[in-house]
Amino acid sequence: MNVNGKATLTLQNGNAIELPVYGGSHGPDVIDIRKLYGQTGMFTYDPGFMSTASCNSTITFIDGDKGELLYRGYPIEQLATKCDFLQVCHLLLYGDLPDDAGRKDFVSRVTNHTMVHEQMQFFLRGFRRDAHPMSVMTGLLGAMSAFYPDSINLHDKEQREISAIRLIAKLPTLTAMAYKYTVGQPLIYPRNDLGYTANFMRMMFAVPAEEYKINDVLVRALDRIFILHADHEQNASTSTVRLCASSGTNPFAAIAAGVACLWGPAHGGANEAALNMLYDIQRNGGIEKIGDFIAQVKDKNSSVRLMGFGHRVYKNYDPRAKLMRETCYEVLNELGLQDDPLFKLAMALEKIALEDDYFVSRKLYPNVDFYSGIVQKAIGIPVPLFTAIFALARTVGWIAQLNEMIADPEYKIGRPRQLYVGAQRRDVK
Ligand code: SDX
Repeated sequence: MNVNGKATLTLQNGNAIELPVYGGSHGPDVIDIRKLYGQTGMFTYDPGFMSTASCNSTITFIDGDKGELLYRGYPIEQLATKCDFLQVCHLLLYGDLPDDAGRKDFVSRVTNHTMVHEQMQFFLRGFRRDAHPMSVMTGLLGAMSAFYPDSINLHDKEQREISAIRLIAKLPTLTAMAYKYTVGQPLIYPRNDLGYTANFMRMMFAVPAEEYKINDVLVRALDRIFILHADHEQNASTSTVRLCASSGTNPFAAIAAGVACLWGPAHGGANEAALNMLYDIQRNGGIEKIGDFIAQVKDKNSSVRLMGFGHRVYKNYDPRAKLMRETCYEVLNELGLQDDPLFKLAMALEKIALEDDYFVSRKLYPNVDFYSGIVQKAIGIPVPLFTAIFALARTVGWIAQLNEMIADPEYKIGRPRQLYVGAQRRDVK
């Protein structure tokens, strides 16, 4: 980052302080307020961090006004159409797309870590069969530190590298295990002769009773979904992972914290909520009744939101939503489901919303979660597993961001302050 001048803050007592301004490669400049409290005895106040940069980063850039998303400088549109997920994992983790030798080495390292400790299935058995997959995933991820004690030292680069490979490699296996457990089917082991995403789909959908046929179009679609979800700057779950890891805890625990945060319907849980919203509209009259639903959304007294719409950063169309809609179209075509009523309903809902001043004036556009549920359902992924798929894909982004923080010589444990508005000092009578 480079110094771009200074900002002067004049206080009510007339004193003025100067604060350095830094610029980056893209995006807004920042005012360095680290000395503010020392110089003024005051904090800044920014609930929800609407105007706060928590770090400097080289990983992902978002231009919310343009609807632009770059991973290490590459536009998401190019990565989603020209690369596969493991190439994007290499890019996010190490800063560059791999050459042929690098790609072979990375794929081999991931492939050879896809099995999990045999005892983990017994940990799984502690859950009820109807447990939400995200509760299982939060448990399994946190438990990994107990099963892989040789890669838990956050400050050891070697151990961070091994835990990164283990997490990327084992998330598909654990996600498929969580799914198989809830449907009472036998767990399917990974196979080293299959690609990353084909392996996952086989672990999800194969049964011992017959050979599983791989559909390359569906595999490619899911691989693209992984790419679209891989990282997204300092979103809520990534900030959770950074804050959790800043205490020096182990990588598995920090990623488990990210999974827990992603679960929320305002964040990664929105894909499940968006599909359930479409089902509700369908049950209550479908396309003809969209107007009634939109009226509910606009009614301040109702807590109804158009799930899969709106974004803290994007005030234009989320580029991932565009790619997701294309993927949706390809998959439905491949499966002969072009007339899928939910897809038609989603497109009708999107059209109406984008012409309605309530959404236009608030710059509410479809985000990554609006179409992802439809395409995942078409691929055969059950609705409660949508957010677990999001977590599977986002794990590489969380790890890259965690590694970047730990490698930053300026990093400290994160410890925000507050504006205290509670009871003044008083004595017990
Ligand atoms: C993800 O941060 C990331 O990068 C996240 C993510 C990632 O990759 O990590 O992109 C993934 O989480 C995508 C977002 C998924 N969430 C949803 O789709 C849930 C529905 N969307 C919202 O709840 C909301 O839009 C948020 C949470 C995404 C953003 O909320 P903000 O930025 O805090 O905005 P806000 O809640 O203050 O809303 C501003 C106005 C309000 O109206 P007014 O008070 O001004 O009258 O817009 C309205 C809100 O009521 N509004 C919506 C709406 N989203 C905002 N109204 C109806 N439907 C919506 N979806």
